[in-house]
Amino acid sequence: MQELMDPIAILGAGQVGSALGRQWAGKGRRIIFGARDPQSAKVLALTDSIGPRSTAVTVREAVASAEMVLIATPWSKTREALDAAGDLDGKILMDATNPLAPDLSGLTVGHTSSAAEQIAHWAPGSSVVKAFNCIGAKSMSEPRFGSMSASMFICGDAEEAKSRVARLTEEIGFEVIDAGPLSNARLLEPLAMLWIDLALKRGLGPDIGFKILRR
Ligand SMILES: NC(=O)c1ccc[n+]([C@@H]2O[C@H](COP(=O)([O-])OP(=O)(O)OC[C@H]3O[C@@H](n4cnc5c(N)ncnc54)[C@H](OP(=O)(O)O)[C@@H]3O)[C@@H](O)[C@H]2O)c1
Repeated sequence: MQELMDPIAILGAGQVGSALGRQWAGKGRRIIFGARDPQSAKVLALTDSIGPRSTAVTVREAVASAEMVLIATPWSKTREALDAAGDLDGKILMDATNPLAPDLSGLTVGHTSSAAEQIAHWAPGSSVVKAFNCIGAKSMSEPRFGSMSASMFICGDAEEAKSRVARLTEEIGFEVIDAGPLSNARLLEPLAMLWIDLALKRGLGPDIGFKILRR
């Protein structure tokens, strides 16, 4: 299937970018990290450890090579990364960012907008799908908790783009919950704050994830 051959560009080779890049490479996908310094020791060590399915180039080169683009930059650097990306028309932007205050005390965007909607505003020809923001990077490497898979909430306005992101999310072991339109990122970004508060301030630790129960 052609979709399996398509590379994924990842902007931000940090905790989230490396965890998801390693996961998708392990599923046979080609990963192109877009980095400010693709020759840095840190980035080279990452691509070496992932193996031949991953490479690192500039942000612009990475985005030019892929239709699917994961945004895994600190919120304060996200506009800069998108500005460096060049033409984003037709791209599917998977937005993992959270617009965190530097001391993790809260969100700097919210209620009447969200990071995801800001990104859609900055890249109007793209399809933005919020995903991967409500769980710690460690659990992106291992979304199974005993016999259950953590839920991953995604939202976006373009159904085909959302379906493609859903497939990528399920492929690495999450249960996907379609959380509706992109404006519902206004709900998902505060949910990430709850995860941060529970994990880092209330003593639950990073091995926690949200799960939808049904009957
Ligand atoms: N960590 C988590 O558990 C977690 C979970 C869910 C969502 N998130 C969200 O995901 C995003 C990434 O978090 P993280 O923990 O992975 O951050 P991180 O470990 O600090 O990594 C951020 C990466 O972004 C890169 N970067 C910064 N500015 C850039 C630019 N202009 N162009 C390209 N790359 C740039 C950094 O590279 P250099 O500085 O070396 O250039 C670094 O590799 C954040 O918005 C965060 O809120 C994090």
